[in-house]
Amino acid sequence: MGCSRLDETVQHQLLDQARRAREAAYAPYSSFKVGAAVLTAAGEIFSGCNIENASLGATICAERVAIFTAVAAGCPDLTALAVIADTPDPIAPCGLCRQVLAEFSPNCRVLMATTAGRIRLANLKELLPLAFRFPPAESGEAG
Ligand code: THU
Repeated sequence: MGCSRLDETVQHQLLDQARRAREAAYAPYSSFKVGAAVLTAAGEIFSGCNIENASLGATICAERVAIFTAVAAGCPDLTALAVIADTPDPIAPCGLCRQVLAEFSPNCRVLMATTAGRIRLANLKELLPLAFRFPPAESGEAG
């Protein structure tokens, strides 16, 4: 399945899982709860929530929890990532999460949503042009 296909039923399922995962968010420092879910190429869904820490740098975003859960299950090929938060407008994944997603699925679709039902769709390539890759591409091969 390519990244161009993300029908409404699947969008619903992804957002539903992200919404449920958000309920488990551990965010005593920011009180900002985030849920995420990824769709694998095989059609499976893995979810995650943000998990904060008293040592603030040890905090991890919902998106990376979902991505790492999929990778740890042996499913690194991701077709779509959904993220949901209680904000007026949909939030976009942070730069670190974009780079992590690009490691596994550079063409991934990103579905951003609010708990009230506002939705925005983008492609990871739009959110993170020129993602870092190692070894770096030869001159002229970037992108
Ligand atoms: N957070 C996420 O989980 N995902 C994002 O896309 C943005 C930020 C979390 C990290 C932290 O727990 C809280 O939101 C405030 O930054």
